Amino acid sequence: MNAPVIRWEAEADLVVIGGGVAGLTAARTASLRGLRVLTLSKGGPSDTSTQYAQGGIAVVAPHGDSVESHVEDTVVAGVGLCDPESVRSIVEGGRGAVAALTDLGAVFDLGRDGEVSRTREGGHSTRRIIHAGGDATGAEVQRALNAAGLPVLFGAAAVRIVTGPRGVQGVVAVSDKGFGVVHAPAVLLATGGLGQLYACSTNPSGATADGIALALRAGATVADLEFVQFHPTVLFTPGGLGRRPLISEAVRGEGAKLVDSQGDSVTEGVHPRGDLAPRDVVSRAIAARLRALGTDHIFLDARAIDGFPQRFPTITASCRAVGIDPRADLIPVAPAAHYQCGGILTDPHGRTTVPGLYAAGEVARTGLHGANRLASNSLLEGLVVGERAGAAAAERLGEPGRVGEIGDWEFPRADRKLLQELMTEHAGVVRDGDGLRAAVLRLLHLLNDRNGGVRAMPADLPELADDPERTCDVGRVVDDIEDAALTLTARAMLLAAGARTESRGCHTRSDHPDTRDDLRRSIPVRLGPDGRPQLVAAGAEHTGGWGASVPRAS
Ligand code: FAD
Ligand code: SIN
Repeated sequence: MNAPVIRWEAEADLVVIGGGVAGLTAARTASLRGLRVLTLSKGGPSDTSTQYAQGGIAVVAPHGDSVESHVEDTVVAGVGLCDPESVRSIVEGGRGAVAALTDLGAVFDLGRDGEVSRTREGGHSTRRIIHAGGDATGAEVQRALNAAGLPVLFGAAAVRIVTGPRGVQGVVAVSDKGFGVVHAPAVLLATGGLGQLYACSTNPSGATADGIALALRAGATVADLEFVQFHPTVLFTPGGLGRRPLISEAVRGEGAKLVDSQGDSVTEGVHPRGDLAPRDVVSRAIAARLRALGTDHIFLDARAIDGFPQRFPTITASCRAVGIDPRADLIPVAPAAHYQCGGILTDPHGRTTVPGLYAAGEVARTGLHGANRLASNSLLEGLVVGERAGAAAAERLGEPGRVGEIGDWEFPRADRKLLQELMTEHAGVVRDGDGLRAAVLRLLHLLNDRNGGVRAMPADLPELADDPERTCDVGRVVDDIEDAALTLTARAMLLAAGARTESRGCHTRSDHPDTRDDLRRSIPVRLGPDGRPQLVAAGAEHTGGWGASVPRAS
């Protein structure tokens, strides 16, 4: 077996993997409870989706709003798959979580009346989205959490969660000092999303589904992976690939309109909330209009918004960088991959189905989002569940938490660009059975191809062999780890998307346009004994951990 050469070791009560809103909130909570916490982040302090969040945080407003109303909007957007208990408890936790963030120094925008200013986004029945720096909410959240001074090992990528008979024992990671081991009885995955499965995404380059793959390989169950949210308004430039600038939904919240190349409304008659319908509805309407007109983008007309550059400085800068002035020009936009609604199956405290393994933030499936996330509910979830999961991890104190056998070290992986092309073609805003089958076959073909398929994982960074004090570039190893995570996640996702023979939320099947009552449930997936993703039979979902079965939506 090709086991890694371990060049460094550390010990902790809790290893948090990820330095965005969920990871840092969890790390802070656990530290305050006296746990020895080590946070690993494969990027730098701002290489997170959190940093890019624009619109804001959805929190029940003090006037003209209620927990019931926020719950109702969330559940409607989730089309029957939200877990109502999770939704209520996370929504109820919003005000406290924001207060904790404010205590850390985060500053939110105020209106002329001196009250916190609130905007509206798609699917919300009222103005309840608080924001910072106009459209730079995420940057302010990240700044405040980074300033808390938690110990974070930047440039360290988690490669494998090691488990034993009593659950988690620790993590294998790679840093510029080579492969290492952190012994710990609890690991919390807060690795963010999977946008890099697609050719165009709003997500940063590190959003490569690492947490899904780490959890699956550790024996955890994932669910709702087929629900990938495509944001309707991502800045379009011809041939633009990779991370694309977002044009926040808050721009529509302030009055901008979606129009096609003929100047006609894209959403009129589609939904009573028009351009502010839930995201899946708007993205589908745009995809249909693009097909009908044979074009690749539509436009956002924001010219009537007063003081656009002051209210939306980040978006103004992105537009100006490509020669567009939102005060005078229409902004070309198209949908792009934005958010993973499903993820690692957890309870509302972040406990997965593996004892000692926790998950929070975008990588987790808590039951808040169901088949489609309501705008600005993600930072909310990261804050609330991050805090709860950090607290829950204290229950592992006293467990042994020492890494023993590291185990199998071969991760199949396909060429990233080819994988992104096939996912974009066959698993985008609208899918069908033939396309999904073609994607599975093509992926298997890629995996069998000597140039694009299974390659041995590097077991060491040979440059370090002569001098343990040296450091070296691990970029290539991290690329391999990411490619393997994307590949495994694509397989799990295609499996679930193929099994969901209906249209619901952001999973639209042109060959099954109706929503089916008998599919009003999550589709859980875990790895079979052969290492391949398999559907979990109904009623056989629980494997220990928090001891409950996959929640059925009520
Ligand atoms: P992230 O913030 O993505 O952090 C992930 C962390 O995990 C990073 O530190 C990364 O380096 C690390 N990591 C990943 N893999 C590994 C590994 N193998 N080893 C070590 N570290 C690893 N949501 C809202 O609620 N409101 C908004 O206005 C909003 N706007 C958005 C705008 C954009 C452009 C984007 C992309 C997203 C937006 N979202 C918004 C969604 C929201 O920002 C994210 O869902 C949320 O920030 C995710 O937080 P997280 O902590 O789960 O992950
Ligand atoms: C946006 O500002 O449109 C993004 C908000 C979100 O993803 O929740």
